[in-house]
Amino acid sequence: MQSLKIDGVEVKCFAEIDSTNNEAKRQALAGYSAPMLFVADSQTAGRGRMGRSFYSPNSTGLYMSYLYKPQGSIADAVTVTAAASVAVVRAIEELSDLKPLIKWVNDIYLDGKKVAGILTESVTDRQGVASVIVGIGINIDTDFFPEDIKSVAGSLGVGLSRDTLAKTVVTHLKSLVEGLSERLFLEDYINHSLVLGREVVYIIQGVEYTAKAVGIDENAGLVVEDNNGNRTTLSTGEISVRV
Ligand code: BTN
Repeated sequence: MQSLKIDGVEVKCFAEIDSTNNEAKRQALAGYSAPMLFVADSQTAGRGRMGRSFYSPNSTGLYMSYLYKPQGSIADAVTVTAAASVAVVRAIEELSDLKPLIKWVNDIYLDGKKVAGILTESVTDRQGVASVIVGIGINIDTDFFPEDIKSVAGSLGVGLSRDTLAKTVVTHLKSLVEGLSERLFLEDYINHSLVLGREVVYIIQGVEYTAKAVGIDENAGLVVEDNNGNRTTLSTGEISVRV
């Protein structure tokens, strides 16, 4: 990965690191100017959403974090994550014949298995300057997964170069987050949805609800409708899909 070059982005590559999101956070606090990308061959403490870990074995996946200073609010994590999901599916489709789908809000699926995940975080330095960190993990050709995730995790299973995949994803991501207010990702996000029209289960304050996913709003919130026709927009948390 040492030769990876992306216009307008400072790239730093590591053979092994705890987590590229952690490294991006350290760099954000130390100061930087242009957007940065941290890429690792493997992570010893890769992190996912909801405090979970992200399995990051050596060189069979792409583990990277994009660090930038947003033009708007940093409170927009769902929207940024949705834009990143679109960057990932666009890149995969550009470089292969695969047809990945997006499970709201941050998981990329292929043939019923999760092949990629996104963890968006934010950090504010001592001067009060805010940064966003978009962490992306893509299983390219990992064929062994630990027991606890092996029924849900999968790989792209095609011989994609990690450099090319990183460059393609980040090029899309950079332009989508720079134009975030224009919602340039929204149409592709809706068209790649794994959940629209399906029954989903979600939890709010410890209570489990079942409803049908009926729409995605302009902030990438998931609109769900219960049996009585009552609608709710989910803007955080996690859903599971009934098949
Ligand atoms: C999830 O599935 O919940 C999100 C997974 C995000 C994993 C990526 S790998 C690169 C970056 N560094 C991390 O520690 N996490 C993200």
